[in-house]
Amino acid sequence: MRIIIERDAGAVALRAAARVADLIHRSPACVLGLPTGRTPLALYRELELVRKHREEGLSFSRVVAFNLDEYVGLHPHHPQSYTAYIRRNLFDHVDIDAANTHVLNGRAEDLQLACDAYEEAIRDAGGIDLQILGIGSNGHIGFNEPGSSLGSRTRVKTLTRETIEANAPSTEDPRELPRVALTMGVGTILEAKSCLLLALGEGKAPAIRDTVEGPLAAQVPASALQLHRDVTILVDEAAASRLQRHEYYREMEAARQRLEAGAGVPAEEG
Ligand code: PGA
Repeated sequence: MRIIIERDAGAVALRAAARVADLIHRSPACVLGLPTGRTPLALYRELELVRKHREEGLSFSRVVAFNLDEYVGLHPHHPQSYTAYIRRNLFDHVDIDAANTHVLNGRAEDLQLACDAYEEAIRDAGGIDLQILGIGSNGHIGFNEPGSSLGSRTRVKTLTRETIEANAPSTEDPRELPRVALTMGVGTILEAKSCLLLALGEGKAPAIRDTVEGPLAAQVPASALQLHRDVTILVDEAAASRLQRHEYYREMEAARQRLEAGAGVPAEEG
């Protein structure tokens, strides 16, 4: 695992955007897996990716995108739907081709069929090159709540009360939000060629500690990332504050930067 600890949320967004932009430059038709939530907001609209598109000509015209999850039952235009979120915060502001954007259909008549078709669409696209992830304070990735099978595929998942409350905007009664969602599975996520998990704030510190330094456990679905060979955990100081090997991760990253700046590009540290 590569652990990058940045000073604050702005620095995390800059670093994440640089990683995405670098991938798009190297591979203009790359396949991205996209999260929603508060954490990636700075990466999308508020700061970097949209700015890079407008000011630096970063083109999404051949990029293919798959959203990570969606509520069951919300109309795509409902402001709390993740389809509306990703349009509002990214797709509406860049030159991505609508035909290349994929979102889970939480209003499908047969939800599992829709999930299976999503898995097939990911396979047909050649798999996800970079899966960006947030993390719940309970250790979920996507909507894979604690107890999710580490081999799970895209499917229906019942949300925990803490997730519903954390996701409800202050203007919304959490009881009005769906209790059920569709999500890529942990196994689906693990098949991405690389994963970039973002976390901000002290509230995420215990989940980050358990993900990086705890045992592999279905109770902490993000810990499954320990099995992946190309994972970057990109966090601010507050989210890193419970990591025991904090100093070692900094040294490892500094050594990597030195090597990258010099001639010798490091062998993958994994
Ligand atoms: P957040 O959600 O970015 O709004 O904290 C992350 C998540 O629940 O995966």
